Amino acid sequence: MIPINKKIILGVTGSISAYKTAELIRLLRKEQFFVQVVMTKAAKEFISPLTLQALSGNPVLENIWDTKEGNGMEHINLSRTAQLILIAPASANFIAKLTHGIADDLLSNLCLARKCPLLIAPAMNIEMWENPATQRNIVTLKQDGVVFIGPEHGEQACGEIGFGRLVNLDTITLEALKFSTNQSFKGIKILISLGATVENIDPARAITNMSSGKMGVSLAKAAYILGADVTIVAGKTTEPIPDGIHTVHAQNHIEMFAAINKNIDNQDIYISAAAISDYLPFVNNKKIKKTETTISVTLKKSEDILKAVASKGNIFTVGFAAESEDLIENAKEKILSKNIDLIIANLIHESMNQSMAKVTMINKNFEILDLPKSEKKEVAFKIMEQIHKTYSKEVLNEHNS
Ligand SMILES: Cc1cc2nc3c(=O)[nH]c(=O)nc-3n(C[C@H](O)[C@H](O)[C@H](O)COP(=O)(O)O)c2cc1C
Repeated sequence: MIPINKKIILGVTGSISAYKTAELIRLLRKEQFFVQVVMTKAAKEFISPLTLQALSGNPVLENIWDTKEGNGMEHINLSRTAQLILIAPASANFIAKLTHGIADDLLSNLCLARKCPLLIAPAMNIEMWENPATQRNIVTLKQDGVVFIGPEHGEQACGEIGFGRLVNLDTITLEALKFSTNQSFKGIKILISLGATVENIDPARAITNMSSGKMGVSLAKAAYILGADVTIVAGKTTEPIPDGIHTVHAQNHIEMFAAINKNIDNQDIYISAAAISDYLPFVNNKKIKKTETTISVTLKKSEDILKAVASKGNIFTVGFAAESEDLIENAKEKILSKNIDLIIANLIHESMNQSMAKVTMINKNFEILDLPKSEKKEVAFKIMEQIHKTYSKEVLNEHNS
């Protein structure tokens, strides 16, 4: 499911943020992309081709008149064999050239002669970005099917603050993965709750749990890459959430329930990967004083959010079971008591708060699938594959009955 050996043409143009391309190449290669860098003449003023060549592992191309490479038709050959052209950073000048179909160097020729998608990550000074000429060009290119990533708002190299900064590199990498992966979840809406809840005992203290949110974020990324329309409801997590995924933050059980209720309508699938407190403390309005030798905290059972969503009956529901023992029995019991479609069961000592996970998936018919222990990122794609199979089967059954 994860794209392997996808070929990407990474265009680099004359922007001050061209130095960031070095790190972007590293991230793309980590995701198994074959990266062919093509620079404009101006880009070489900002970063050395040698650096990008060393990082990409391929000769950097710039000169359209160079006959040494291939059959001398590199201005069209390269983009024919690529799955994607990504321009990062894209200068105002290059965007203007693209808009008018100008092809006066290798990179602009490749863009004009392409059949694959074109992603543009602009980077420029705020005045250049807001200039009506640039804005007109962007509208035209979007109408032509070109996809823009950013720019983002923030402090710029010139010291000004505003739109024009190159969007963060993880977001660019995520989009590149999306545009080079089979969109099996296209048109499917998925809500994923993730992370831990934090329940106050008093204004300074709280009860929480060991969930890092890593599995949930990995699932959200996998779903997004596979084309789903993803909404995240995030509790406490140590894992960065990509900017491109719509996210609502929730601190505790009450906020998480409210956020899920608000966003659940029209969703096709709900994945409950959050570790939500099963028991809630009664909150003291003032800080508890350190006077007694022992104190006790009374907890009351909280409402089961997953069960409440499943009871609506029109959403495919996926739950997690993190157990210390009797994994399969406990997971099966959860399927029945919550009336959910699929459960992902894992032993706490094998998965929680770790970068790897070993999970077992069980469906409503109690069919069991063991996934091998691997990085959560890989496990997430395998889980999404199974969700897709089971969900498609159920939707087809509904249509046929
Ligand atoms: C120091 C410096 C920084 C620049 N930074 C940017 C930038 O961030 N974005 C941009 O669109 N142009 C920037 N420019 C202007 C472009 O480099 C210039 O328009 C160039 O012709 C772009 O060529 P290209 O589109 O072929 O790469 C900068 C120029 C200089 C001298």
